[in-house]
Amino acid sequence: MSEEKNKVKNEERSLILIKPDGLIKSLTGNIISKLSETELKIVGAKIVNVSRELAESHYEEHKEKPFFEELIKYIMGEYHTDRVFAMVYKGVDAITKVRELAGKTNPEEANPITIRGKYGRINTKTGVFENVIHASDCKENAEREIRLWFEEHEIVS
Ligand code: RTP
Ligand code: MG
Repeated sequence: MSEEKNKVKNEERSLILIKPDGLIKSLTGNIISKLSETELKIVGAKIVNVSRELAESHYEEHKEKPFFEELIKYIMGEYHTDRVFAMVYKGVDAITKVRELAGKTNPEEANPITIRGKYGRINTKTGVFENVIHASDCKENAEREIRLWFEEHEIVS
């Protein structure tokens, strides 16, 4: 058998959020176009009005961080608009592919051709990195986040 056939394909899912700054800046189309470069499949999508409970669960790993409260207000839309666009992408190496297109967390450090490098900014009042997009960072978090944001029947299998 050829080496190619022996390779086990790393199929995975990733949760992507276009954050409230991305929506208010009308970046949805640009971001989806950019994501299409990955050739991953989009298997779920919806607009969500983010409750505090959902915001805090989503970012629970950061609850001890000094920017936590501002981060929660940011994702709930207090500074922009009260919704996010939640999507699930699926395919080989989905998590890494989407993180690469998203760019570094700090938009000033992100490569300018990435989504965050192009469209992100640091809010000088709150100190929060307004970086336009969330992307799952590992398989375990992706599955946890997808369960938080989506009912299983909302995702095409
Ligand atoms: P995300 O979870 O949103 O995809 O971002 P990430 O993995 O690249 O970064 P993470 O460390 O999980 O941080 C979550 C979000 O918190 C805001 N942040 N601000 N001012 C700061 O030092 C700071 N650090 C993080 C950003 O909005 C970041 O995306
Ligand atoms: Mg993260």
